[in-house]
Amino acid sequence: MTKKIAAGNWKMNGLVSDLSDILDIDRQIEGLECTTVICLPATLLYASDGDPRQRVEIGGQYCHPAASGAHTGDISAPMLADAGATWCITGHSERRTDRNETDADVRAQTEAVWAAGMTAILCIGETLAQREAGETLAVLTAQLAGSLPEGATADNTVLAYEPVWAIGTGKVASPEQVAEVHDALRAQVGADMSLLYGGSVKAANAAEIFALANVNGGLVGGASLKAADFVPIVQALA
Ligand code: G3P
Repeated sequence: MTKKIAAGNWKMNGLVSDLSDILDIDRQIEGLECTTVICLPATLLYASDGDPRQRVEIGGQYCHPAASGAHTGDISAPMLADAGATWCITGHSERRTDRNETDADVRAQTEAVWAAGMTAILCIGETLAQREAGETLAVLTAQLAGSLPEGATADNTVLAYEPVWAIGTGKVASPEQVAEVHDALRAQVGADMSLLYGGSVKAANAAEIFALANVNGGLVGGASLKAADFVPIVQALA
């Protein structure tokens, strides 16, 4: 049975003073049948204390594939887990672009996330040029094959489809576009792995997207920064 997941990705946003707003949404999501996760900048993980009693689970956004070592400025999966993270995003398109991360890098990071006992939210997505060239499914299939390690299960991995052209643009993929991709991904990963959509998810469009057969939740950027924006999205999922 796939898990319903509402995940937020704060990216490089937020200060410690911003945490209580989002971590205090427990009462507003009480009784909702879904998992709620906020992936924070590493500096905020310790401040969020990862209290297991809180409904909102916390995650990281990236980890170095090594468990430790001479990697100045980097962070390891064990460090994220030590700070209370139980999830970690891997393969986000902003890192694939900004940091030239390859499928092999994402595969190694995903294995490191598993080794630290966390669940990976593995991101794949096509560019506008690839979509306009009719290459979407081929690109995603290749990314998945290159990024997803052997041994992936519904317990250690969640897949997030994030069309690059929809991230931060306000241009959300149409239900038809989302359904085509998610149906194809479902055929490749099996019946149990949760498939999330990400890319301009907002309270206004969440219910339509989440109602699609092979969408099990969302990976939300801008609309996860404030409880007032994020809670309606969580509610649309449950
Ligand atoms: O990882 C989620 C993010 O890429 C989506 O961002 O602001 O379009 O919801 P946004």
